Amino acid sequence: MSSASDNAPLEPSSPSGPEWADPARLRPVFQSRRLIVGITGGIAAYKTATMVSRLAQAGASITVCMTESAARFVTPLTFQALSGSPVYTSQWEHIESNDPQHIALASRADAMLIAPCSMDCMARLANGQAPDVVTLIASAINRASTPVLLAPSMNEVMWSQPATVRNAAQLVQDGFTLVGPASGWQACRAVGPGRMSEPEEILAALATALTLARGARRP
Ligand SMILES: Cc1cc2nc3c(=O)[nH]c(=O)nc-3n(C[C@H](O)[C@H](O)[C@H](O)COP(=O)(O)O)c2cc1C
Repeated sequence: MSSASDNAPLEPSSPSGPEWADPARLRPVFQSRRLIVGITGGIAAYKTATMVSRLAQAGASITVCMTESAARFVTPLTFQALSGSPVYTSQWEHIESNDPQHIALASRADAMLIAPCSMDCMARLANGQAPDVVTLIASAINRASTPVLLAPSMNEVMWSQPATVRNAAQLVQDGFTLVGPASGWQACRAVGPGRMSEPEEILAALATALTLARGARRP
């Protein structure tokens, strides 16, 4: 049986427990929020389908963008159906307007999440490169007011490479928020750090970032 407190807004400091799997509980934080979800080429892309579905059920307005590699793991059609909106797979196809769409999308977003964020995507962002639609949109977001969260996902050796360690530190210094990665079973049958954090933990971090950004914007 549910009680009134079941629907109370979740505090940003809430632990990433099972409540983050319940769209009704997510609604107070995510309702009408304009979110961009970027997906890059990693096995964990299937977990992002769960997150997009929960965000849609919570009333968020979601724009999904995918790299070419990401579209080899999960089809854009899946995310189009889950988000209820067209999916951006190329910076050269203008879906909504004749204006530079990456600027338009970036300027009206409340937050962006890139999940999974590949080793290569981390390197591109850490170096200020924007050769694909995901990094292009991310690069057009002003992180002083709009949070950009990255959920790295890769094999444990890739995660421990000096380049990845350097890039992770640089990204944090540059104002990106890293969520995870977690440690555990990996699709390559290794066990160790590098697997993408679970959807509940990422949604909790996204909620925290949104709440903090909204608080910072208040006069
Ligand atoms: C089967 C397979 C699984 C992969 N899984 C990952 C992964 O989990 N994390 C990662 O960083 N790269 C992974 N890669 C490599 C990336 O897909 C590759 O570096 C790609 O260029 C990333 O492109 P993107 O960042 O533009 O999406 C995988 C490649 C293959 C073939």
